[in-house]
Amino acid sequence: MMTITCITNKTRRFLLWAGMLLVLMLPGRVPDTAAQSLTIYSGRSKALVEPLIRKFEEEHGIRMNVRYGGSTQLAVALLEEGRRTPADVFWAQDAGALGAVHRNGMFEPLPEELLSLLPAQLHNSEGTWIATSGRARVMAYSTSRVDADLLPESIFGLADRRWRGRVGWAPSNGSFQSLLTAMRLLEGDDVILQWLHDMKANNTQGYINNSALLQAVAAGEIDIALTNHYYLFRFRETDPDFPVEQTLFADGDSGNLVNVAGIGMLTTSRNRDAALKFMKFLLEPENQEWVTREVYEYPVLEGISTRSVDTPLSDIQDVSPDLDLDDLSDLNRTLDLLRRAGLL
Ligand SMILES: [Fe+2]
Repeated sequence: MMTITCITNKTRRFLLWAGMLLVLMLPGRVPDTAAQSLTIYSGRSKALVEPLIRKFEEEHGIRMNVRYGGSTQLAVALLEEGRRTPADVFWAQDAGALGAVHRNGMFEPLPEELLSLLPAQLHNSEGTWIATSGRARVMAYSTSRVDADLLPESIFGLADRRWRGRVGWAPSNGSFQSLLTAMRLLEGDDVILQWLHDMKANNTQGYINNSALLQAVAAGEIDIALTNHYYLFRFRETDPDFPVEQTLFADGDSGNLVNVAGIGMLTTSRNRDAALKFMKFLLEPENQEWVTREVYEYPVLEGISTRSVDTPLSDIQDVSPDLDLDDLSDLNRTLDLLRRAGLL
């Protein structure tokens, strides 16, 4: 009896192990790893990002954790957290914020198959972040008080006496400061400091942000405003007769900056698969359409239908001066110049 019991126990144990092994070896029965998740630091607004996040979760079964904030503020948080950051990806509104994280070596080089989806100017030169949409700096002007033929060809022409007291800008606004950083890199700090002084002496009017600038043009307080391209389209949404037009400066002028929103993956991410899937998802045509329709930014891929912006980004880039977008992270010296000119 003893012997038989022993054999039975041994057999049972053997069968148990064999069974477990079999379960592990069968392809369909490999135990599922814990559900994938992805943590995003988003400098893009919740209204824009949340519907896309939900769509991605549904399509890929990846759980998303999002921390919202200003792009610069989140870049600073990432630099402080360093290797302890819980973030897998950083989606920023501004190339300068991405450049700051890149320069601190916190972004992982992205695979060629992702980079090759975009024209070379729409990812940084080391391929650690990709643009997800673009926005152009423009000169907006009153359709009733300005003859478009007389507009200056260069942003430097706005310091001319002809425009005395008629131009508005937003020195404390992030987009304006990025433009100024670009101008500084292209022309040198001294030239830009002089321009700031000249503009101030020409009684250029300061406003809090781009919306306020366009309202001021429409209300007749100023005739020209330095702004981003998409604000006009937003005003036209509620008022198709909004009395403002906009244009770029002449080919190659340093007033023609194309800035981008973009995304990079942290070197410390343990969810690379999910991170890359999300980046690819943002470049899918229908998601590109959504982002650009929602905020009137430019798609980064050709052939995407948008609501009112029909100039492809590549055409605008043709008239923009060449610039490494990572360099826009050099904000401190820009702020210093603005302070020295008494504008901050
Ligand atoms: Fe904006």
